[in-house]
Amino acid sequence: MLERISHLGYAVTDIEAAAAFYRTSFGVEPGESEPVEEQGILATMFRVGESSIELVQPTRPDSPVGKFIARRGQGFHHVAFEVRDLEASLAELKARGVDLIDSEPRIGAGGMRMAFVHPHEVFGVLTELVESRGTGTH
Ligand code: CO
Repeated sequence: MLERISHLGYAVTDIEAAAAFYRTSFGVEPGESEPVEEQGILATMFRVGESSIELVQPTRPDSPVGKFIARRGQGFHHVAFEVRDLEASLAELKARGVDLIDSEPRIGAGGMRMAFVHPHEVFGVLTELVESRGTGTH
């Protein structure tokens, strides 16, 4: 089911400061941060080899990422695996009794079709599935 690691998500309190740090210190080029209203976040990504790092800043304290930072501070937030067919993968997981946060695909940062698997199923790691676009550009 899992094709590759799409990205790792880091929760940060100031996405512009974080992007500037990665730009200056590591010479990477994060894109413009964009809002994902539904999740209450700003997000940006930069490529590292065949995967990416996603910086995620909450836009409201009661959003899931806002609560995450309040509870655990900034840091590693989620891993995202690329799958070929998101609906089929979610159906397979449901059939296996795996608890999903999103039982249907939704649109995440960068317009990607994605869904979260509940972290309590994955040994405490919030796990995102994103649908492959076939181009490997995200
Ligand atoms: Co993500």
